[in-house]
Amino acid sequence: MFAGKTILTGVKPTGTPHLGNYLGAIKPAIRLGNDAIAQGGKHYMFIADYHAINAEKDPAVLNQKMKEIACIYLAGGLDPEKSCFYRQSDIPEIPEITTILYAYTPKGFMNKAHAYKACVDKNREAGKPDDDGINMGLYTYPTLMAADILAYNTDIVPVGKDQVQHVEIARDISGAINAHYSKELLKQPTYCFDDNIAVVPGVDGRKMSKSYGNVIPCFADDATIKKAVFSVKTDSRPMEEPKDPEEIIVYQIFKALASPAQLQEMAEGLKQGKLGYGHIKNMLLSAVLDEMKEVRDKYNYYMAHYDDVEQLLAQGATKARPVAQATLKRLKDAVFGR
Ligand code: TRP
Repeated sequence: MFAGKTILTGVKPTGTPHLGNYLGAIKPAIRLGNDAIAQGGKHYMFIADYHAINAEKDPAVLNQKMKEIACIYLAGGLDPEKSCFYRQSDIPEIPEITTILYAYTPKGFMNKAHAYKACVDKNREAGKPDDDGINMGLYTYPTLMAADILAYNTDIVPVGKDQVQHVEIARDISGAINAHYSKELLKQPTYCFDDNIAVVPGVDGRKMSKSYGNVIPCFADDATIKKAVFSVKTDSRPMEEPKDPEEIIVYQIFKALASPAQLQEMAEGLKQGKLGYGHIKNMLLSAVLDEMKEVRDKYNYYMAHYDDVEQLLAQGATKARPVAQATLKRLKDAVFGR
């Protein structure tokens, strides 16, 4: 499926990832990139720091988030030699391409983009003016994202549902430009979903999310992870009472991590009333610590040797830039009639 294709993913630096982020987004993205490379495709992975400044105005906080996310992708197995791993702001051609794309982007596309509309809806709910707190970075966000995608002749953007519309906007913009100049100046991207993605419930059973305060902070120390795992909601039924595993939150989280044999052990124990909540929480804790052991060690190593990471990102930018430069040149030649 990926042979000869270019796959591109951008990630916003948004604070230390939790177990849901790691299992549901980061790990699958790394796996997908590595699969694509193994099949003879090209893989670009970048940290969308220009996108991040729309919301995060504290440079120290932003820098910390940037470091964490870079180290986590490397710790999770992204191969910086084989993938092209870089920072968006290291490629000055991206904002230049964005400026050209603006001239072909109907304002209406931005009005109906989900990320912007969600902010307007929030303002309305709070009784505030529609545009309260909305900057132009947020408003024009999909055009910058289109430049990210189109600069590298991307074939496929792996996405979650929330990003589909943004890829479609990139398609529409590139289609409009190609049609206007009657040639394929820009490759038209498509998106794909990863079917292996786990949705991880949080400690209260709702989707794990920082905004719900129900996360398992899997990059924290053992004691903090333990505290979170033991806070997973249970009820007061005695151990002996047979239970439907699917109704037990500990089991639902365990599903995202455990091997089939481990999963069966927990399911049978619950059904037969042989495992209590303390038991299954310990099983979940072991599974989380096993899953994270190597990744956390590597993560801590990279955080402590951040100069190495900087160097890897710089190398990535050196690989990525010529491609973006060629795209920019094609566009400038066409639009300015050079
Ligand atoms: N908008 C994406 C997000 O919020 C991040 C992103 C920026 C991106 N540019 C991209 C994703 C290009 C894929 C392709 O997660």
